Amino acid sequence: MKIAIIGGGPAGLYAAILLKKQRPAAEITVYERNRADDTFGFGVVFSDATLDNFEKHDPPSYRRITQEFAYWDDIAVHFRGTVHRVGGNGFCGCSRRKLLLILQERARELGVSLQFEAEIDNEKRFADADLIVLADGINSRFRDKHVEHFQPEVDVRSNYFAWMGSTRPLDAFTFIFQETEWGPFIAHAYQYEAGRSTWIFEADPETFERAGLKGLDERQSADRMAEMFGWFLGGHQLLTNRSMWRNFPMIRSQRWVKDNMVLLGDAKATAHFSIGSGTKLAMEDAIALAEAMQRAPTIAAALRHYERGRREEVEKTQHAADVSLVWFEHVDRFWEFDPVQFAFGVMTRSKAITYDNLNLRAPDFVAEVDKAFAKQVRDNGFDVDVEKPLAPMFQPMRLREMEIRNRAVVSPMCMYSAEEGMPTDFHLVHYGSRAIGGAGLIFTEMTCISRDARITPGCAGLWNDAQEAAWKRIVDFVHANSAAKFALQLGHAGRKGATKLMWDGIDRPLEEGAWDVISASPIPYFPDSQVPREMDRAAIQAVKKAFVVAAERGERCGFDMLELHCAHGYLLASFISPLTNQRTDEYGGSLQNRLRFPLEVFEAMRAAWPSHKPMSVRISATDWAEGGVTGDDAVEIARSFAEAGVDLVDVSTGQTVRDAQPIYGRMFQTPFSDQVRNEARVATMCVGNITTADQVNTILAAGRADLVALGRPHLVDPAFTMKAAAWYGAEEVFCPPQYLPGKEQIFRNSVRDRQDFEDLRIKAKPKTRAELKAEATKPLAAE
Ligand SMILES: Cc1cc2nc3c(=O)[nH]c(=O)nc-3n(C[C@H](O)[C@H](O)[C@H](O)COP(=O)(O)OP(=O)(O)OC[C@H]3O[C@@H](n4cnc5c(N)ncnc54)[C@H](O)[C@@H]3O)c2cc1C
Ligand SMILES: Cc1cc2nc3c(=O)[nH]c(=O)nc-3n(C[C@H](O)[C@H](O)[C@H](O)COP(=O)(O)O)c2cc1C
Repeated sequence: MKIAIIGGGPAGLYAAILLKKQRPAAEITVYERNRADDTFGFGVVFSDATLDNFEKHDPPSYRRITQEFAYWDDIAVHFRGTVHRVGGNGFCGCSRRKLLLILQERARELGVSLQFEAEIDNEKRFADADLIVLADGINSRFRDKHVEHFQPEVDVRSNYFAWMGSTRPLDAFTFIFQETEWGPFIAHAYQYEAGRSTWIFEADPETFERAGLKGLDERQSADRMAEMFGWFLGGHQLLTNRSMWRNFPMIRSQRWVKDNMVLLGDAKATAHFSIGSGTKLAMEDAIALAEAMQRAPTIAAALRHYERGRREEVEKTQHAADVSLVWFEHVDRFWEFDPVQFAFGVMTRSKAITYDNLNLRAPDFVAEVDKAFAKQVRDNGFDVDVEKPLAPMFQPMRLREMEIRNRAVVSPMCMYSAEEGMPTDFHLVHYGSRAIGGAGLIFTEMTCISRDARITPGCAGLWNDAQEAAWKRIVDFVHANSAAKFALQLGHAGRKGATKLMWDGIDRPLEEGAWDVISASPIPYFPDSQVPREMDRAAIQAVKKAFVVAAERGERCGFDMLELHCAHGYLLASFISPLTNQRTDEYGGSLQNRLRFPLEVFEAMRAAWPSHKPMSVRISATDWAEGGVTGDDAVEIARSFAEAGVDLVDVSTGQTVRDAQPIYGRMFQTPFSDQVRNEARVATMCVGNITTADQVNTILAAGRADLVALGRPHLVDPAFTMKAAAWYGAEEVFCPPQYLPGKEQIFRNSVRDRQDFEDLRIKAKPKTRAELKAEATKPLAAE
């Protein structure tokens, strides 16, 4: 077998090693355009988990790599004169040059032919090769040559970055967030061998320009950065080696395989440097390719297997890198944060690290985060304990005069169980049990303002006296038996009305008994959905009036808060999104025009709703569709509602058009809440695939939302908050007297359960290499 590998970077060399081990008789050649020891850049980093993977696949190169590496355990965040250090991260750094020399040496030992100063411009010269590995890096000539086939998507990011080196020793992975007269600069720095550290500097384009970096040569710009970070460098120089300022290209290729050619490493996909995974991905690609070659009967099958098996892992890493890079691009959002909260945000930015996880390895840091959070709560007038604070989830909050005991919220969820809009005993039990379960705030399902405002025949409403009385009974029960506050969500289904119950076919049009539907424009949801009537001025006035009348009824029921539903493609949302609003009057066109009707409704309700009670608005912060609402629009939408008196923005997404492309995942809508909260400076509630109290605490402590709503988790567990309170020892959680023995038991058991859990986690966690090294070099105790 003959294998040609184009590119002698980590991907190409490691693939050569693993394939040669597997097939000693194969003729494997690596073609590299540079000289053997001629490499740009400084250091690379690997996590302990990545090193474990290398150990499994090629122990000799693993051993040599780990002998050469610098280890560290801590991440240090420098911000506004403070330093926060978090241990237990287990990373190591190595010079890229040494890594390549180790891999070259190992490849040679195994009999791989290495050809340097061999620039390949045409793969046709390998016509006799069984396999051609394209490992030619980020600017891959071969990916671009076959662009129609590989279909790479290149997203060039806005921030500028440059990769430099220094002799400054570092004992932690170091982030420095530096305030300058031109704007924020960020340094990502780590040591990779004795006396050598890597420094990646980053700045947004405006800051970069204002600082006069444009047009400077490598040396001049290094000198400028050395001046800026001189206080930290302490006389150490910044070194350059092709250290040009660039913009990071996020690359995703639709296809990785063409005939017997396969893309590996940066050539196929990149991951932002802020999560330090580029070299890891490149070498793990090589592992995946070798494993596929081991198992599959033919090369074609192996390549198919490689692409199919590896894609999800790569995309997951890319997603984490995306989330992380967005955090760095928008660092100015958090610039006013308390430094410890800021540092917590840095640590938890890409979702892999959470509040509980940090509590295990850096309890003092988390204690400080909790204190800072509690202090903010105390500054807002609550008499909370700041010295031994409760976890953020159990800190109270005030909206106007409504006080919420904790930050867990039951999200609005339609139960499709009303009869002619009348809530039934099902609703009493449903809301009653969730209120007793301990959530600070519960929302009603979308409650419809009129009969023809319903989504389905099972939707609840508030347009007549009987419904008002039925809701009042539920509100009274909640207030009499729990400490939960109760918010009424009012809405109109618009073009998604007259559809089947969720379990009979969500959003599908009713076959019988449908009523006429209205919308901003006459565009049906599905091609076979009812075509809605475009609302004229009379309809606009009538709907506004119905919202106000329902709000007045809500006040008589005793609800504590009112939410206007402007999300998910229902009537008011259909005005906001350009995908569903094609009007040419003052209610269509610009965002301000599209917001006009929802704002008119909001203002009319606000005037009717008691001024001491808060109001929220639910929005879809993105349509997840080309040409639709974006996160930036959501900031504008939130600002407009805030000016109209909204107290809280309930940040959901999507469901506007049926061909949207949402990117699901844990806490997938939280970045939108983060953006709205920290750009528009309004209180937000986030929601969406948040399933654990750990996630709730992570989001709150990082300042990404003020309240956290959980929908589906509450469907199966009304006592979600009570259980979480037991776990975190938040005795203050409300429990009705009838249930006190249960509360006492779960609180007692939780102390032990938590201890067992933490012991298990600590036992199960292998020692980091830094810890092992420290142990091995510790002097023996005197006997
Ligand atoms: C600023 C910055 C910081 C980074 N920090 C880290 C980090 O901390 N940790 C980490 O793991 N990764 C980091 N990376 C990423 C890392 O450098 C790459 O992701 C990794 O090297 C990818 O390996 P590769 O083998 O796919 O590509 P490369 O390392 O780019 O190797 C490709 C090779 O192909 C050769 N080549 C290209 N075209 C041809 C041709 N036509 N003929 C012959 N040879 C050719 C090139 O000379 C090169 O040697 C960073 C990257 C940047 C830009
Ligand atoms: C059965 C069900 C009914 C829902 N009904 C409503 C509703 O009436 N109003 C609303 O704004 N959102 C509604 N939603 C959306 C939820 O409030 C929430 O945003 C969504 O389920 C995502 O949160 P989760 O991942 O915690 O479930 C509903 C969700 C479910 C599962």
